[in-house]
Amino acid sequence: MRSAVITGGAGGIGAATAERLAERGYAVLVVDRDGEAAEAVAHRIGKPATAIAADVADEADVAGYVAAAIERYGRIDAFFNNAGIEGDIAHVEDYPVETFDRVLAVNLRGAFLGLRHVVPVMRTQGEGSILNTASQAGVRGVPGLSAYVASKHAVVGLSRGVALEVAKAGIRVNCLCPGPTNTRMMDDIKEAVIAAGGDPQNFVDRMPVGRFGEPAEIADVAAWALADAPGFLTGAVLTVDGAMTTP
Ligand SMILES: NC(=O)c1ccc[n+]([C@@H]2O[C@H](COP(=O)([O-])OP(=O)(O)OC[C@H]3O[C@@H](n4cnc5c(N)ncnc54)[C@H](O)[C@@H]3O)[C@@H](O)[C@H]2O)c1
Repeated sequence: MRSAVITGGAGGIGAATAERLAERGYAVLVVDRDGEAAEAVAHRIGKPATAIAADVADEADVAGYVAAAIERYGRIDAFFNNAGIEGDIAHVEDYPVETFDRVLAVNLRGAFLGLRHVVPVMRTQGEGSILNTASQAGVRGVPGLSAYVASKHAVVGLSRGVALEVAKAGIRVNCLCPGPTNTRMMDDIKEAVIAAGGDPQNFVDRMPVGRFGEPAEIADVAAWALADAPGFLTGAVLTVDGAMTTP
């Protein structure tokens, strides 16, 4: 049986992708800092999906979720390196240093550690597929979100570098750049914009398609890129954003 590991698997995009991969016959390991929520997602999917609590910024936890995947399923065919946080909304001169550090620790260090521990497993297998979640904020600037923007640009770079390192090992590495999508993250960003006296409707009005994305729409592309895409699809930066970043 093929198996998939999904970090941030209890969140909107991660859980929807876990469901898509389970529908394709994958045994899914749902990894999330929120262990109870991860258990709930695995329970909803049903056996053989399982869950594990882990902080992706902590290398021992990362080694732990990779070991759990091997112990439970014997291999890792697909790795959705997806956990992320948005941090605060503030201009750079007011941006809290501790939030900057935490955003980089989760979004960049977490993605790096995941690759560092999953790539050796896939090299041994001689095959595997990896999708790192960046963002539309990985290919353009967004005011007030400098730490997030920096971390997501770095995830794009990390994906490109590693894709080249493993291309001959039969491992595909791609990068997903969703546009604003209706999950907990976007709900919190909307609330922060309102608290700062702004109007989140301005975001929606700037969307060429006139709306935000749905987790299922992102998950359809993520599951395709991980499970169905041809071997020639590697090193790609896949924007799924309702034309938000279209030049
Ligand atoms: N929602 C959007 O508009 C949007 C747009 C572009 C990119 N993204 C990216 O998509 C990914 C998924 O976000 P989402 O929208 O599903 O948000 P979400 O908040 O619903 O899901 C994120 C999940 O990651 C988990 N998580 C956070 N920190 C963690 C850590 N240190 N270790 C393990 N798990 C951790 C959370 O508990 C949560 O379940 C993120 O990387 C995010 O940056 C989201």
